[in-house]
Amino acid sequence: MEYFEMEITEKEKEFYEDQLILLTGTLTEFLSCMDMLRKYQKTVTGRDPVVSCQARIKKAESMAGKLQRMGLKVCRENALEKVFDAAGVRIICPFVEDVYRMADLITDIPGVRLFREKDYIAHPKPNGYRSYHMIIRFPLRFLGKEGMENSLWLELQLRTIAMDCWASIEHSLKYKKDISNQEFMKKELKRCADEIASTDLSLSTIKEMIQDDSSVHLPPKL
Ligand code: GTP
Ligand code: MG
Repeated sequence: MEYFEMEITEKEKEFYEDQLILLTGTLTEFLSCMDMLRKYQKTVTGRDPVVSCQARIKKAESMAGKLQRMGLKVCRENALEKVFDAAGVRIICPFVEDVYRMADLITDIPGVRLFREKDYIAHPKPNGYRSYHMIIRFPLRFLGKEGMENSLWLELQLRTIAMDCWASIEHSLKYKKDISNQEFMKKELKRCADEIASTDLSLSTIKEMIQDDSSVHLPPKL
């Protein structure tokens, strides 16, 4: 499993100041939980349910823009309390069932509180976007005091490799404003998203058939 480097520049250090350690601490601790969960699942099923995890802290510039759009004062306290995605992790899984399994396992981590979930896999966005989103409250164990809770918001996006491929291409095209045949492109992107969803389903079926088949043909235990 890959963990992407968190890119933190001087601008983020200046904006988040002493709160930056809370954000990086939350992400480091969450990624370590993910590593354990993934290894545990592998011992149970013989298969890694996660391909990669990408952790990021929201860029100072984009956080300032979001706070302004929300009509809030641009300060690090509001960034951590009023915005849910100062810390975010994207979890990429091979199959759709892995996405749901990981979402369940994350919800069951002791101390984690699920605040909001959006199932854009069961209910895709009109443009075809699919992913499973969760906003959780993640406990900061290293600052824990008896009877007192220290926790931070964490935004999670879980998706398959195929969904991630679509989302990153669609995201990169969003910023190209000078496209003449926008409507056609939108339709094509939607068609691709639907084809990807159907391919994801076929791949799951193939995986299950192979698993069933290999369990039938296992050599007898001596
Ligand atoms: P924000 O967009 O974070 O302000 O919150 P929201 O309440 O609208 O949340 P939502 O769960 O809809 O989206 C959160 C994140 O998911 C976005 O910031 C994107 O990273 C991603 N996302 C949502 N919709 C799309 C989409 O149509 N295309 C792509 N590429 N990414 C999307
Ligand atoms: Mg966001």
